[in-house]
Amino acid sequence: MDKIQDTIDLLKIYNQEHIIKLLEKLDDEKKRALIDQISKIDFHQIKELYDNTKKEIEIKENKIEPLPYLDKEKLSEEQKEEFQRLGEEVIEKGEYAVVTMAGGQGTRLGHSGPKGTFKLDVYGKGKYLFEILAENLKEANQKYGKYGKIIPWYIMTSKENNDETIEFMEKHNYFGYDKDSVRFFAQSELPIVDVNGKLLVDKDMKIKEASDGNGGTYSSLRASGALAEMKEKGIKWVFIGGVDNALLKMADTILLGVAINKNVQIASKSVVKANAHERVGVFGKMNGHPKVIEYSEMPDKMAEEVDENGELKYGEAHIMCNLYTIEAIEKISKETLIYHSAFKKNSYIDENGKEVIPTEPNSFKFESFIFDAFELFDDIAILRGKREDDFAPVKNKEGVDSPKTAKELYEKFWNRN
Ligand code: UD1
Repeated sequence: MDKIQDTIDLLKIYNQEHIIKLLEKLDDEKKRALIDQISKIDFHQIKELYDNTKKEIEIKENKIEPLPYLDKEKLSEEQKEEFQRLGEEVIEKGEYAVVTMAGGQGTRLGHSGPKGTFKLDVYGKGKYLFEILAENLKEANQKYGKYGKIIPWYIMTSKENNDETIEFMEKHNYFGYDKDSVRFFAQSELPIVDVNGKLLVDKDMKIKEASDGNGGTYSSLRASGALAEMKEKGIKWVFIGGVDNALLKMADTILLGVAINKNVQIASKSVVKANAHERVGVFGKMNGHPKVIEYSEMPDKMAEEVDENGELKYGEAHIMCNLYTIEAIEKISKETLIYHSAFKKNSYIDENGKEVIPTEPNSFKFESFIFDAFELFDDIAILRGKREDDFAPVKNKEGVDSPKTAKELYEKFWNRN
């Protein structure tokens, strides 16, 4: 009884009276489930995030400078060999783990289901994105497995796609990857609010929540026990990559060697930005700390700025190919990263119990970004790779970064190698 009253009081404080009305209409079981969900929501945080949506994002250009990088193409043979040797040693000793962020749905791609279950039409038969990643890791195990160590593969799902992802991997027998070396963990969620800061109600009569962005990877690694497991296994380096790049190299020994040689806690691979408005984040330094400025928040003027050689001043694209020491992951996992808001279309149940499917964006989703953690460090190493070797994103149904462009890049790469 008290719990119900406490919940009602809380909802009143935060102007969520429509949820009180909903509670009154529910049967006991649904009521209990909703109260339970409400007890886990940090309303203060949601209010703060909503209030922030009214503030302009300010990127002060004068405080941002380009971040130095090392060009893989320009390394001497000796340097390459030295980096490779350092990197190989780590993997051979079983001190290397890989995380795939697969919490996103293929909405932009028009694929219903976890993005990793999208089949790219390569070489006639086609390959699923998860299959491409599994093959990449199997190859690494073959190359660096002289002591029989298998790279542990952690796959981050969302609450929404967790079961479907596991079922898919089971059905496909993990594409030949050692099943015991694969572990799934789900990322966290945050409620969605409308333009007045009101929580949306979902079809199941609960508060509508959505994945809270790939910046949640660190805390979810910690909360799920995966981080503790990595430490127990003696993992020293952790690679975190996206699910939607058909040319992602998950065990790049040169990247690893660069990080070790430069004595940094984070190393990231970049490619040259294709044009000023390519939808990629770019590396920079803000107030002396490494940073990625996301395409959605980059002022046009800044995106178009060129240096004395006519090249984009902010031209090193972040391709979601990031490497960390285990200490760095542990440090970041204790911090709260900032949240960014995205204005999106979200269906909901209105006060009369009817489902509303909006045709225009109607609500805010809050997401933290994986790279915002870079600012917690004084320096990171950037290794510039090559687009044709390292980056074949599968993002849109058609046009740029589509299955068609990714297929071409993938087949070209494998025909060459
Ligand atoms: C992302 C990067 C961008 C980079 C580009 C390269 C972010 C915020 N932006 O943009 O800097 O240049 O990729 O392709 O990372 N994901 C989750 N959980 C979530 C959200 C996303 O696991 O809650 C995963 C996706 O499954 C995917 C990756 O994160 O593997 C990228 O997500 P997406 O939101 O598609 O990023 P982009 O906008 O393409």
